[in-house]
Amino acid sequence: MRTQVGIVGAGPAGLLLALMLERRGIASVIIEARERAAIEATIRAGILEQSTVDLMVELGVADRLRREGVVHHGTILRFGGRNHRIDFADLTGGRVATLYPQHEVLKDLIAARLAQGGHILFGAKVTEIADLASDEPQLHFTDAAGLAQTLRCDIIVGADGSHGAGRAAIPADQRKDFLRIYPFGWFGILCEAPPSSAELIYARHARGFALISNRTPEVQRMYFQCDPDDIVEHWSEDRIWAELQARLAGEDGFRLKEGRIFQKTIVPMRSFVCEPMQHGRLFLAGDAAHVVPPTGAKGLNLAASDVWHLDRALGAFFAGGDMAALEAYTATALRRVWRAQHFSWWMTSMLHRFEGASEFDERRQLAELEHVTTSRAAATALAETYVGLPYA
Ligand code: DHB
Repeated sequence: MRTQVGIVGAGPAGLLLALMLERRGIASVIIEARERAAIEATIRAGILEQSTVDLMVELGVADRLRREGVVHHGTILRFGGRNHRIDFADLTGGRVATLYPQHEVLKDLIAARLAQGGHILFGAKVTEIADLASDEPQLHFTDAAGLAQTLRCDIIVGADGSHGAGRAAIPADQRKDFLRIYPFGWFGILCEAPPSSAELIYARHARGFALISNRTPEVQRMYFQCDPDDIVEHWSEDRIWAELQARLAGEDGFRLKEGRIFQKTIVPMRSFVCEPMQHGRLFLAGDAAHVVPPTGAKGLNLAASDVWHLDRALGAFFAGGDMAALEAYTATALRRVWRAQHFSWWMTSMLHRFEGASEFDERRQLAELEHVTTSRAAATALAETYVGLPYA
């Protein structure tokens, strides 16, 4: 088997790239370890930046997003027992965030790619990424039937997440990993209840952070800061609701609307960047190259911006062998990656409870929230990064 661009991973990065390359007439094949049904059922984050929405519109894959996505013109920061609103649209000249869950994005991208006749090999596991220094690198993999196969390519893109074969194919002595592990995780639930708030609530409380998000009029998504080593079985419905209500309580008498909890997960929190994001004919995109803590929902959006740059660089390469943009890919992508790293770290630091924090630290944290919600300049800094920085 041969193609121009061999893509490992049918996540947002891999699928968006395949759709963008198709517009240039560049052939690609996606190799994905998981089954389609599993990918389409995995619950992840829910917020799309303006630039991600614009990209999906441009690619003609936004019909359902436009119908079912919910536009958020602002968000709530809650501290001191009160809500403080950040008005994205007002502060950024009309840019907004859109709530449309990642697995819905994936359903739309997979359907669109298959409708183009694009190849996505599900249930296929990469065993080796070979010959990256040559001009015909190869992906060795085991297909869904268990047969050993080889895909010969001009370029390989590792868009296979933080535990995939992509990053591992860059020799450890030729890359530098930047890692910060946070001493807490997020306990996430899905519940059958009406929305408690039209806009997301990011809440800072002495007991720890909580986030109130939505899915549909009937299903809500909520998170609260927890011990990353805790286990979900320790948390009964009653205990979860008591904890969430305590973290949202305030002088305004706010109460969350409760309902049956039908999913519980604990996610660890870390910040990670791998530099460089390329090696020979291999280019990394999305979580394969970097991970952000979920506060601020930058993960999927950052994957989209990586492949936006990669698409342009691959366009120049296949049009006439111009390597300059591909060679500059790491430097180009990393500027936005580190901005998003800073934002995600900042939102996390400003809103979470840190074990052993002094009273000084707590007062300073509250002062920072006060600043962000009362100074138009500071609120604008948050808003413009939340709705997404321009790609270029
Ligand atoms: C959601 C997740 C986030 O990390 C965030 O910042 C906002 C919303 C969500 O899953 O809805």
